[in-house]
Amino acid sequence: MKFSTFPPEPVIPCKKPFKVDVVGGKRYSWCTCGYSKKQPFCDGSHKLKAQTFKPIRFLPDKDATMYLCGCKFTNNPPYCDGTHKQDFIISAPLYEENDS
Ligand code: FES
Ligand code: FES
Repeated sequence: MKFSTFPPEPVIPCKKPFKVDVVGGKRYSWCTCGYSKKQPFCDGSHKLKAQTFKPIRFLPDKDATMYLCGCKFTNNPPYCDGTHKQDFIISAPLYEENDS
């Protein structure tokens, strides 16, 4: 029997941030679960693979270049805060699409 952990943890699709040029006034959904195939954004995969997760929606007020967290363990979502440099991320398994 497999016990689930609580709180649930995301999988790690990437161990560094995604540099993204965002458009002011456009709505974005940052993937929190790590299962999306369109990182760093949500593609709806959480509905099948991680139902306790929801994307974080944000609306930039102007065009900008952002560094969005790829490891999913940032303390300042959706932005990278450097957490990916910590040992627990470096030593954690990287999620590959065919893992599921
Ligand atoms: Fe990860 Fe939607 S696919 S939050
Ligand atoms: Fe997640 Fe930097 S990529 S904190």
